[in-house]
Amino acid sequence: MHVKKVLVTGSSGLIGSEICASFHARGYQVHGLDNNQRAVFFGPMGDTRWNQRRLQKDLAHFEHHELDIRDREGVKKLMKVLAPDVVVHTAAQPSHDRAAAIPFDDFDTNAVGTLNMLEAARGGCPQSPFIHLSTNKVYGDKPNTIALKELATRWDYADPAYEHGIPETFSIDQSLHSLFGASKVAGDILVQEYGRYFQMPTCCLRGGCLTGPNHTGVELHGFLSYLIRCNLEKRPYTVYGYKGKQVRDNIHSADVAEFIYQFAQNPRCGEVYNLGGGKDHSCSILEAFELVASVSGFKQDYTYVDQPRIGDHICYYSDLRKMKAHYPEWRLTHSLADTIRQIVEQWRSRLDKPGGA
Ligand SMILES: NC(=O)c1ccc[n+]([C@@H]2O[C@H](COP(=O)([O-])OP(=O)(O)OC[C@H]3O[C@@H](n4cnc5c(N)ncnc54)[C@H](O)[C@@H]3O)[C@@H](O)[C@H]2O)c1
Repeated sequence: MHVKKVLVTGSSGLIGSEICASFHARGYQVHGLDNNQRAVFFGPMGDTRWNQRRLQKDLAHFEHHELDIRDREGVKKLMKVLAPDVVVHTAAQPSHDRAAAIPFDDFDTNAVGTLNMLEAARGGCPQSPFIHLSTNKVYGDKPNTIALKELATRWDYADPAYEHGIPETFSIDQSLHSLFGASKVAGDILVQEYGRYFQMPTCCLRGGCLTGPNHTGVELHGFLSYLIRCNLEKRPYTVYGYKGKQVRDNIHSADVAEFIYQFAQNPRCGEVYNLGGGKDHSCSILEAFELVASVSGFKQDYTYVDQPRIGDHICYYSDLRKMKAHYPEWRLTHSLADTIRQIVEQWRSRLDKPGGA
């Protein structure tokens, strides 16, 4: 019997580890590729080895490959040997703000690393679905040009054209992206191109805030995870601009993994989806403080800096209608309150263990 194989890059990260668990539960042999680059990008607080060890302990049919996606020959060789049935590419330099300090590492990882993966897949398994984690930062700061209304604790779209959120047809051009957004645009377009030009079953998932208990949140990436860590450690959180009313839509990594599984079973070529929690799972930073406090019991201390982060979205939530139309069986299964509860519990157990975080 042919045992199906999935290759997951960034397997020690939030999304990668969730994909590994999800495909493993469906009988796949799971190959994870990660080199703990997150610790290089963000220092010891970004170290994801704990998550790699967790996968190696919990998943019987999991194999870790210590490889850098920038290693073109290494990636090509691995893809040839494995010829996976599905490729899920989540490895990335994921931070908007970090990219300006490391422009070459950022571009070499997000753009060239993605090209390495695509070419390797074209050579080794061109028929296999290739799912790429893109980002809503491909839209740059253009969502900030939509008319907004200010409510007591959040901003919202005033323009009824966006009552369901930002659709995939929104322009990615002529706006401020950050170097991270620019390198992710390059990766996103390449993934689409391999779908259209070579007819490979590829898709780009333009994530809002992807979150869950297995995130190694740091100040520069992983907003809810980091905020909850600050709350539990009773450290002040710094809010940058927009009165703390900036809105993000949050989706549990398990719901991301479920969409990816469904796409892999019934793939299309060169597709793009906005993937987030949508309006129902959105919150502002001020609202997040309240939600977290209601679970942890600690009121969040914070400092306010008037200057927003460069290019930061004032209000962003994804229009999920295309995803739901193409994959009607997929739905969001974790409420925001439930997701926050899970992250609180996970941080509590990790912070209890010396070196566990
Ligand atoms: N988490 C979010 O809020 C969010 C939002 C939008 C898009 N995304 C995208 O989703 C993907 C996954 O995000 P995440 O939150 O799981 O990130 P993460 O940092 O938790 O995981 C990424 C993993 O990739 C690994 N990695 C990085 N560079 C590598 C390299 N050169 N070679 C091998 N491994 C490498 C890291 O060590 C890390 O374990 C990324 O592409 C990110 O841009 C995430």
